[in-house]
Amino acid sequence: MEIMATAPTLTLENIRQMIVGIDKKVPLYDGRHVQYINFDNAASTPILKPVLDKINEFMGWYSSVHRGTGFKSQISTLMHEKSREIVARFVNVDLEEHTIIFGKNATEAINKLAHRILLQPDQVILCSKMEHHSNDLPWRTRTRVVHVDIDDKGRLIEEDLIANLEKYRGRVALFAITGASNVTGWVNDVHRLAEICHGYGVQIMVDAAQWVPHRKVDMRPQDDPGHIDFLAFSAHKIYAPLGAGVLIGDKSAFGQGEPDMVGGGTVHIVSLDHTYWADVPEKEEAGSPNTVGIVALAKALLVMEELGMDNIAAHEAHLTTYMLRRMKEIPQASIYGGDDPYDVENRMGVVSFNVEGLPHELVAAILNHEGGIGVRNGCFCAHPYIKCLLRVSEEDARLLEENILKRDRTTIPGAVRASFGIYNTEEEIDVFIDVLKRIARREWKGEYQQDFHTGEYHLKGYNPDYGNYFRL
Ligand SMILES: Cc1ncc(COP(=O)(O)O)c(C=O)c1O
Repeated sequence: MEIMATAPTLTLENIRQMIVGIDKKVPLYDGRHVQYINFDNAASTPILKPVLDKINEFMGWYSSVHRGTGFKSQISTLMHEKSREIVARFVNVDLEEHTIIFGKNATEAINKLAHRILLQPDQVILCSKMEHHSNDLPWRTRTRVVHVDIDDKGRLIEEDLIANLEKYRGRVALFAITGASNVTGWVNDVHRLAEICHGYGVQIMVDAAQWVPHRKVDMRPQDDPGHIDFLAFSAHKIYAPLGAGVLIGDKSAFGQGEPDMVGGGTVHIVSLDHTYWADVPEKEEAGSPNTVGIVALAKALLVMEELGMDNIAAHEAHLTTYMLRRMKEIPQASIYGGDDPYDVENRMGVVSFNVEGLPHELVAAILNHEGGIGVRNGCFCAHPYIKCLLRVSEEDARLLEENILKRDRTTIPGAVRASFGIYNTEEEIDVFIDVLKRIARREWKGEYQQDFHTGEYHLKGYNPDYGNYFRL
């Protein structure tokens, strides 16, 4: 009798078996090896096994897309276009009206929109003080950017959005806002913000890099006042780190003007003195696309659909509550944003904190060397936001700029960030809290030295042979 192996049903209960590298052990300061704890998911997530398996399977059929005539090219082209349909369904848009433009990440997607948006000379763009640089700097390259204010916990002040929409009435080209903060985890009510903006005839662009991984996203039909006009996100934050990103928007927004990048694939026809641009999305996807990354992105969305975005949100809310409850056992730790364990509905599993009297770089280094825990520290590409949250004075900010320009990074303000994914557990949080308690009691074991140029702390005498772990 032939017995067929069936793939296990995907659930959050068995998700750890589906995370590639979950069993990897990493070295500690004393040579012992422990299982790695990855609390840096807001930066990048590991790859899901079903995504990797699908990509391995696809590689057997992979070939040139769009202009190849061979059978493999046809399959690759079909999968490339099928991926658009999967993205469209995931965010609930109609491909008759919307276009899905693939690129390499959220940053590239936002830059593209910033370069493609048609602006009158006196128009402004609104964004907020809680943005990642990727949703702030691209707009500054085009026109004057006005930053909507935040409150002392780092939440957007809606009244200030309205005040700015009033102040610049008729002159606001777009409101660019994050779906969720990569520093405090605050989730913005983007549909309410969209209704407000649309009431003023202003479109809204949501940076969904931190939103798509954790919440059900619905851009809503265009006749809904709460619809989202543009959305951008990255695959490497949704368990598919193969270098793809997406920009979604109304087709008409890309109809006029030249693409920001031109070349192969972007045209209907070219003569020596003129060019007729192709229709979207081809017009906006210059050069050979990253079809492998795009298929990985689409497969990751399918897996997340199967797991259920509400289940993902509930699991991560549970972890956040547990983390915030346990952080209360460490009075020396102060959290930026919200620290109420029972107020987690409007925040994600991102916890940024400092330990009284200790540099953030040192705390992060000890978590790594003495706990095998990967976190992130610093300003998280959100300098204006961090300066507000840490109450850095104008004078200190100016001194800091001087130091950095002298390549002295020893005084950079910042925080330590622990961020969760679908596969993290309470047990991992317990290990983290134990190490953090030792740090707060100044009971770490190693001797650490700060690097003047990077600001990072290094464990004295630590010189592992990385080649024992991975070689090219
Ligand atoms: C809120 C937010 N926006 C944008 C980005 C940029 O994403 P990427 O680096 O994938 O382009 C990030 C990355 O951390 C982010 O957290």
